[in-house]
Amino acid sequence: MRRLRRFVTVLGEDLDAARHGDPAARSRVEVALSYPGLHAVWAYRVAHRMWREPGLRFPARLLSQIARAATGIEIHPGAMLGRRLFIDHGMGVVVGETAVVGDDVLLFHGSTLGGRSMTKGKRHPTLGDRVTVGAGAKILGPVWIGDDAQVGANAVVVKDVPDGGVAVGVPARVRVPERRVEPRSVADPSELIEYMI
Ligand SMILES: CC(C)(COP(=O)(O)OP(=O)(O)OC[C@H]1O[C@@H](n2cnc3c(N)ncnc32)[C@H](O)[C@@H]1OP(=O)(O)O)[C@@H](O)C(=O)NCCC(=O)NCCS
Repeated sequence: MRRLRRFVTVLGEDLDAARHGDPAARSRVEVALSYPGLHAVWAYRVAHRMWREPGLRFPARLLSQIARAATGIEIHPGAMLGRRLFIDHGMGVVVGETAVVGDDVLLFHGSTLGGRSMTKGKRHPTLGDRVTVGAGAKILGPVWIGDDAQVGANAVVVKDVPDGGVAVGVPARVRVPERRVEPRSVADPSELIEYMI
């Protein structure tokens, strides 16, 4: 019972991640019914549970293929995805069997966490927390993408990216930004004045 409650909590977090990740999202109901990225992640969560039972691997694959047909997003049930993953727009996303994805990650449409070889074993990327993968980007092989890294749209990444790094181009060149102090997000203009003083 506790496991079920935790599972439902994780699904609810996915819903909120989609709601907060897309400025165009208006309500939880709208997001729950009309976001293919969310449907694909939910289907993955069920398929991954099944995958962990050796006798259920075949139905787990079937479920992920049904989800792929419905959403255009292919997530292998053996992949390890963290919490609050948001796949925006979705179509064309591929996540391979040995990929690992941290928490609060954002994947745009057309992004691929793929392999470079046909050998068995770890052959897909590992993404840290709060990574963004731009539209059409391909991350190939068992590379490590550090926390808070950003992969630019259409980049092809075949080497590790350090924490906070920005990877753009084909093959991707990596820029590690100097530590920058982000201005506080300010909702109320009076707070802005206080902040400027
Ligand atoms: C990579 C990215 C995160 C960089 O953002 P940033 O840190 O603000 O970087 P900047 O815009 O200052 O660009 C830095 C440099 O990278 C280049 N660059 C930025 N994005 C690029 C990309 N996708 N491909 C190639 N070069 C890119 C810029 O031209 C600039 O080059 P320069 O230093 O020679 O002038 C961002 O441009 C990006 O691609 N985000 C993905 C967004 C996306 O997929 N949206 C889909 C919405 S539907």
